Amino acid sequence: MKRDLISIEDLSDAGIASLLRHAAAFERSGASQALQGAILATLFLEPSTRTRLSFEAAMHRLGGAVITSADPQASSSAKGETLADTVRMVDAYADVIVVRHPAPGAARAAAKAAKAPVLNAGDGGHEHPSQTLVDLYTLEREVGRLTSLTVVLYGDLRYGRTTHSLVRALVRFGAKVVALSEPGLELPDYVCARLAARGAQPAAARIRGLDALFPGEPPAVTLFGFPESRGGGAGVWSPSDGEVDAVYVTRLQRERLPAARADRPVLPSVDARFLAVPAFRRAIVMHPLPRTSEIDPKIDGDRRAAYFRQAAFGVPVRMALLSWALGRLHLDGGGPPAPSAALAGAAPDGPGGCGEPACISVREPSSAPAEFVGAADGSRRCAYCEGAWR
Ligand code: NCD
Repeated sequence: MKRDLISIEDLSDAGIASLLRHAAAFERSGASQALQGAILATLFLEPSTRTRLSFEAAMHRLGGAVITSADPQASSSAKGETLADTVRMVDAYADVIVVRHPAPGAARAAAKAAKAPVLNAGDGGHEHPSQTLVDLYTLEREVGRLTSLTVVLYGDLRYGRTTHSLVRALVRFGAKVVALSEPGLELPDYVCARLAARGAQPAAARIRGLDALFPGEPPAVTLFGFPESRGGGAGVWSPSDGEVDAVYVTRLQRERLPAARADRPVLPSVDARFLAVPAFRRAIVMHPLPRTSEIDPKIDGDRRAAYFRQAAFGVPVRMALLSWALGRLHLDGGGPPAPSAALAGAAPDGPGGCGEPACISVREPSSAPAEFVGAADGSRRCAYCEGAWR
């Protein structure tokens, strides 16, 4: 079976832990010639700096070669070529393909069209699994463990794809996740359904001292965690002083916001006052970057500001990921975890299709013929973007 990484659900818990151990070894050892002769193609149909350059730096550090198409206007997609056709060509030129595309579900469509492994570098507002591996590596390095963390997700949680992959992984490792979203930009239903299938139900939460930072009514705070880890019974959960391990900040994803949504954040930016909230005393501040106004640059010098170190970890983590995808590295328990079997796909048995207009199966059915998967709650979801099936 080829080693695609389309969703963070494609790796088991043991596989993730093993990949991060290999990343640590790459961070210690630096360069090698392990991938000499292999070619990486980076196919980026959406803007990127860190993700593309860290994949490319990782390939160079392993002695491999890189070919890239990073400007949609300069690629054949501007001439109307379908994603599937583009990928079939790239497949003939490269041994591993990293894809970024504005349509949710595009990475799965690309993986179907290619014989080479495909790594998802962000498919619209859906998922960004290699960023999650970088985020988990950062948490392990900076907090000292991966299990039983308390993490606050802060910002645009609806269109920010990094949190969609991260929250699934965190919950799998037993985290309490506190979602503090921009009003109206809460985690999408399909992500919450996936968390519920893992036993992490939403509950009300409150962070002492945070309300004072909001000029008006503070937005609702939701906790996702396992009932036994909430500790407070059925009431409103509050983290104790110093309990939060990380605050993960995301920018407003202006390129994906509906026209009716003001493009100014409502949440206050993360600054010295924010970090003075007692629950955040020890919390590292993470951000997939680029930041806009959601983190005050004045806190860059605070030892808790981990975002630039996080970006640097992208290289060793992607060295491990490329080595795995190219079959040069074995992961313990490397196969997909059991629930992913539900994503194996099923042919539609009648009319119907994805209800998400941006989905690749709606925008480009020739690249992604409509397909559903059964969800744990008995409903059907689009096999590409996990949108509701209609
Ligand atoms: C993120 C992305 O592209 O989703 N950036 C990244 O890959 N480091 C986050 C963002 O653009 O806000």
